[in-house]
Amino acid sequence: MHRVYVTRQIPEEGMRIIREVAEAEVWPGELPPPYEELRSRIVDCDGLLCLLTDRIDAELVANAPRLKVVSQLAVGYDNVDVGACTARGIRVGNTPGVLTETTADLAFALIMATARRIVESDRIVRAGLWRTWSPLFMAGVDVHHAVIGIVGMGRIGFEVARRAHGFQMTILYADERPNPAAESEFGASRVPLAELLTRSDFVTIHTPLMPETTHLIGIRELSLMKPSAILVNSARGPIVDQRALYDALVAGKIAGAGLDVFEKEPVPNDEPLLRLDNVVVLPHIGSASVATRTKMAIIAARNLVAGLKGEALPHPVN
Ligand code: DGY
Repeated sequence: MHRVYVTRQIPEEGMRIIREVAEAEVWPGELPPPYEELRSRIVDCDGLLCLLTDRIDAELVANAPRLKVVSQLAVGYDNVDVGACTARGIRVGNTPGVLTETTADLAFALIMATARRIVESDRIVRAGLWRTWSPLFMAGVDVHHAVIGIVGMGRIGFEVARRAHGFQMTILYADERPNPAAESEFGASRVPLAELLTRSDFVTIHTPLMPETTHLIGIRELSLMKPSAILVNSARGPIVDQRALYDALVAGKIAGAGLDVFEKEPVPNDEPLLRLDNVVVLPHIGSASVATRTKMAIIAARNLVAGLKGEALPHPVN
């Protein structure tokens, strides 16, 4: 029987699929297995099911001579050295598609929460600071009919555009490739990133993390945005230069930010952004609905099993 290592407890629906063909060891902790622990656990494994919190680098795979497949339970796989896996003939899979709408919902929730000061208002009510109704008390900005700039019109960007269209927003997007469906269905216009930043009331990021997108949004880009604009990042933390973002918010160069992801996760408690009222922060929960996480576990399990059998993965990365 094949031996596999699963780096966290995952929904049972996924485990059932794995156990039909393999003997599975599951890391029992709530936190990820430490790197050295993982390295030693997979030495004699044929398959690995991992999460975005696990660093799967060249050294780790070199130390697992039997490894045939690395199945990532996420759509993003910037934590996996795919080149090193490919060089070793190891198949890599991910879980695209099933989390698209759930993640788009969350991006839109961040847009709404930041624009309408939802979290700040909640804090005020709970602190007993709500004394009366008055015209500009907790007044925010409108989302409907505003201009949204979507950086990366892939699957998730497209679903954000669908939601924005429902709010009668003007939709701009920046992407290497045109997306004719977004243009015809939602009236989206493809523009250069600089123009998107200059014109948008909301800028929302939906591009993968790659060397070319690391700090894609930095000092220069933030300085192009309107002082009334809001930046939302539910993709990957390092796409935004977090220090530059803090400085821009404090200097009033932009009005607010909604962040589900950070350069370092979990975000340290002394992160200066956490002190700002105009920033809404979440703990990387873009795809976190029970239904979606269950579907992701099933896909990750199917990728794993296919790799163990030497078959093409349903959702391959390499
Ligand atoms: C992914 O799948 O890449 C997400 O960030 C996890 O929700």
